[in-house]
Amino acid sequence: MNRPQHGGNPNWAATVAGCPPSLILDFSASISPLGPPPAALAAIKLHIDNLTNYPDPNYPELCQAIASHHNIAPEWVLPGNGAAELLTWAALEFSKLNTTIIPTPAFGDYWRSLQTFGTRIITRSMMMPDGEIGDLDFALRHLPAEIPHALGLIINNPHNPTGQICQQETILPHLERFDLVVIDESFMDFLPPAEQQSLIPFIGQYPNLVVLRSLTKFYSLPGLRLGYCIAHPNRLNRWKNWRDPWPVNALAAAAAIAVLPDTEFQQRTWDWLAPARDRLFEGLKQVSGLHPYPGAANFILVRSDRSVTELQTQLLQQHQILIRDCLSFPELGDKFFRVAVRTIAENDRLVAALQSV
Ligand SMILES: Cc1ncc(COP(=O)(O)O)c(C=O)c1O
Repeated sequence: MNRPQHGGNPNWAATVAGCPPSLILDFSASISPLGPPPAALAAIKLHIDNLTNYPDPNYPELCQAIASHHNIAPEWVLPGNGAAELLTWAALEFSKLNTTIIPTPAFGDYWRSLQTFGTRIITRSMMMPDGEIGDLDFALRHLPAEIPHALGLIINNPHNPTGQICQQETILPHLERFDLVVIDESFMDFLPPAEQQSLIPFIGQYPNLVVLRSLTKFYSLPGLRLGYCIAHPNRLNRWKNWRDPWPVNALAAAAAIAVLPDTEFQQRTWDWLAPARDRLFEGLKQVSGLHPYPGAANFILVRSDRSVTELQTQLLQQHQILIRDCLSFPELGDKFFRVAVRTIAENDRLVAALQSV
């Protein structure tokens, strides 16, 4: 079995560890350990009989639930089969432009989607000359002065894999400069509302702005597939004509309608994350040879003085613990890994395992 490009592959990990996949403690996929929320499971059970009907292709109730969640009109919402499906249609829009800029390191699916439509890509590294990680500002400051006409930009905020959160004021000037700006906010929900830096409040002012959101990480539903896009209705109507009529299945739609107003689950997640992340960060910092980076999301990027491939294998074989190597992020390579923040007990187990190997 080949080394996976994406986190969350316990089957591959189990072959390395020599144990059943169910015994792997998976820190490689950045999925909340608190979910799925009971409201999602109840909604799935309640709507199981809907499997005999096609969903309404306009998903009116789902669009309304998402719109109410963000205080916008439902015409500005397009649900999708995960943020990944919506990236495909964003990429088709990018392919009509001269060039699209990706600050790197970046989520691998940006290449998959953009290359599908032959989009011209320019990468701008966030890495500083001394090997340290810079930020989005650093990556975009070095754009050539004579930027070509019709330029696209894809930004991930909070950023995977660094966990950095970029302030709204840093992104807004790029909306004046670029013809299309896609902000992938798949991890934004993990920040408490007062700390979020979403661009959704600016959607009415910028027809060139597209915001992507995912429900799979925060609500722990990666197998269900659900994300959405917020953008100008003209753009969304175009996308509807490109895609198949029923990209979201009836159970995913029902689960989303149930979880979006679930403020109890949302509050529980915010209450868990900050102290769990701080404790994990401090624990990782105490392990000799490891250098964690502070971040705002539900994962932590760590620089390692020794080979991560080796470390990953040892953790699997000796502790059945899977960490996310960063080999698929060429700027990072074998000296970085990423771990999800899990429960306090699981995070402590990871730190103890790292100490011992
Ligand atoms: C930055 C980023 N965007 C989008 C996605 C895809 O999310 P979804 O499960 O909603 O397709 C991921 C998944 O890992 C991701 O890391």
